[in-house]
This record gives sequence, C-alpha cells and structure tokens, in this order.
Amino acid sequence: MFERTDDQQALADAAREFCVATLGPSAREDDEREVFNIDFVRQMGEMGFCGIPTPEEYGGMGLGYVEYCIVLEEIAKVSSAYAVTVAVTGLPQVILNMYGTDTQKQRWLPGLAAGELLGAFALSEPESGSDAASLKSTAVLEGDEYVLNGTKFWITHGGVADIYIVMARTGGPGAKGVSAFIVPGDAAGLSFGRKEEKMGMRASPTVEVVMESVRVPVSDRIGPEGFGFKVAMAALDSGRITIGASAVGLSQAALEYSARYATERKQFKTQIIDFQGVGFMLADMACRIETSRLLVEKAAWLKDNGRPFSNAAAMAKLVSTDSAMLVTTDAVQVLGGNGYTREHPVERYMRDAKVMQIVEGTNQIQRIVLARHLKRTYSRG
Ligand code: CAA
Repeated sequence: MFERTDDQQALADAAREFCVATLGPSAREDDEREVFNIDFVRQMGEMGFCGIPTPEEYGGMGLGYVEYCIVLEEIAKVSSAYAVTVAVTGLPQVILNMYGTDTQKQRWLPGLAAGELLGAFALSEPESGSDAASLKSTAVLEGDEYVLNGTKFWITHGGVADIYIVMARTGGPGAKGVSAFIVPGDAAGLSFGRKEEKMGMRASPTVEVVMESVRVPVSDRIGPEGFGFKVAMAALDSGRITIGASAVGLSQAALEYSARYATERKQFKTQIIDFQGVGFMLADMACRIETSRLLVEKAAWLKDNGRPFSNAAAMAKLVSTDSAMLVTTDAVQVLGGNGYTREHPVERYMRDAKVMQIVEGTNQIQRIVLARHLKRTYSRG
C-alpha cells in the first residue's frame, strides 16, 4: 500500500503526460471563460480514465479505486474541473455496477466508460441539499411507466449529460419514500434552467434540471421502490473517495508551484524558502497532503477489498478537502502579491478548493456521518 506497483506507476505517468499535454494548455482560459470541452471527456475516455473501476466486460478498465484515485490525482493537478467530471460521470457507473440489471448495465456502462457518454447524478433540490431525504420531486406510477416531476439543483453536467440518475419520491416522506431512476438526457419533458456562475471549478457546468412529466419505464428504475436513498448514499460513499483524491491532486499542484516559487524568489538577498515563516508553511502543506493521500488510499483500499468503507470515505473527504483549502490558501500566501493575481494558478487552486468542502456532502455532513458512527460504537447498553 505504501509503494505503487509498476502498473500503477505506469498509469500515473501516462495520466500525468496526457493531462499536462491535453488539459494543461487551456486550463486557465477554460476557467476564466467557463468553457466545458466535451472533447476532453472523449479523450480521457480513450485513455480509459472515464471507467477505471468499471468491469472490463462492460467496457471499463476493471481496476480498483486505488488506481482510480491515482489517475484522479494526476487530472486534478492540472484541472480539478475535469477531475470532478471524471468523478461525477463515475457515479452512474458505480450505481449501475452495484444495483443495475444486466440490461441497464449493457445499455449505459460501455458508453460511459469509453467517455462517449457523460453521466450525472441528480439528488439535490432547491430546498433539499444536506437533508437529502426531504426531496420533493415525484415519480408517479402510471401503467408500466413512472411520470417524474420536479426540479434538481446544482447538477454537475446538467444539460450536457447523456444519462441522469434521478432520485424522486414514489412513497411517503423520508428516506424510505425515495426511488432511483435512469433518465436519458434527451427524455421528453427534461429541460435545463439556470447555469450557476461560480467562484471556482468554472469549467465544470453546474445547472438546474427541470422535469415536467418525464416518462420513465419501470424497467429504468434502479432497485426496488423505496431503495433510492440507499442507492444515493452508497454512490456518495464511493464518490467521496474520488473527491478526496481530487483534493489531494489539487493540493499537490499548489505545493509544487509554491515550493518552486519559494526557491526562486529572493527577498533580503535570501531565497524565501529559507525564511522559517515560509519554509514551515511549505512543510505543513506537505504534511497535510501526505495525511490526506494516506486516508484517501486507505478508503479506496477498503472499498477494493470489500470491507466497510463509509466512515473511511467520509474521513478522507473531510480531511483532504479541508486540507486542500488550507494548502491552497497558504500557496497564495507564499506567492504574496503575485499569488493574488491571475498570472499564477494558485488563486484558481484556492477557488477550486472551496467547493470541494461542499460537494458530495458538505464537510459538516461528513462530521455527522462520523459522529453518528462514534455514537453507535461507544454508546453503553
Ligand atoms: N449507504 C447505504 N445506506 C445508507 C447510508 C450509506 N452510506 N447512509 C444511510 N443509509 C441508509 C440508512 O441505513 C437508513 O436506512 P434504514 O432506515 O433502512 O436503516 C436510510 O439510509 C436513512 O438514513 P439516515 O436516517 O441516516 O438518513 P438522514 O436523513 O439522517 O441523512 C445524511 C443522513 C448522512 C445526512 C444524508 O442525508 C447525507 O449524506 N446528506 C448529504 C447529501 C449529499 O451528499 N449531497 C450531495 C449531492 S451530489 C453533489 O454534491 C454534486 C454532484 O453533482 C455530484
């Protein structure tokens, strides 16, 4: 676990080379102009990056989350927006892999894994973010179809995705009334509202998704009725590992850039890294990143080995994204006035880090998950 295999290192090298050459040249401009380039998805798909843990029989690489995280780290070092794209298009895949019928898998997984199709995950609503079980979208059974109505909010890939996994209410209030559905991007009655203007992660589109009498055949429900909340939570457990890996990559990029700068920049005739105020900041950044990477790798390893990993994923997401915020903020500080300008990427890193503390469950939600586990573990009687 502490040393990569030759195959893992080769995968990391290939990912780094690809990302620097392909995503790197326009990363700053894509952020500034809020451009999402679907060709990058196709190219990442050709490299195998869009379906790393999807089984080979369904067109994926059939590798583990450890390998998935290795690649995500490399993508995020260059563009955290496209790391999030790979993570989010992975959510329908992890759901179909776990709960899909063979027909559902055959229909969607090969395209998603190849990057020919793009996936999205539609849980949040205007009034239901952290309290996901209070969602209001409805799915009413009429004959052999469900009719879906409602509005989904903050949907990554809204308007560009080919498949949405939508959570909607088929029963009474609370988690047990929620079911999960496959909704194709071109379904009649599906439309797209506001595209959010964001602080960071600006190349990644975040869009309102509106469902007006969208008809979904019963065969496109995932799992039984009332199982949708568990589908969403289980997907997010896996997704949180991928957000953690992306945060590690983003942090690593911030460290490498600011450490190099600190060896080149001189003040008072001294390389600024030799001032303890700067050198210690960089040392703390390196420690935070290493801690985060170990937690992310452990969560990925637990998942790959069929062990419970829900708490490990929450811990990895929490620590690595809080660390990313600290690390990228300090990277700006190391560069001083230069760090605050768009001439250097560290201000983008800092803006991108912020949303990682929010997506796939805020870090307060991760603490709730962990605190509940501690209560269950240590309650007497
Ligand atoms: N895996 C499987 N099942 C789970 C689970 C998990 N990790 N966590 C909970 N469940 C099950 C519970 O066992 C329970 O089922 P039973 O009653 O049969 O035991 C059921 O789900 C309800 O669980 P809770 O009572 O714990 O539910 P809750 O309402 O208290 O909520 C929560 C728990 C952890 C706070 C949850 O609501 C949550 O994670 N909220 C955050 C939502 C979130 O992460 N949203 C992000 C959306 S996606 C995104 O960010 C952007 C994007 O584009 C991808």
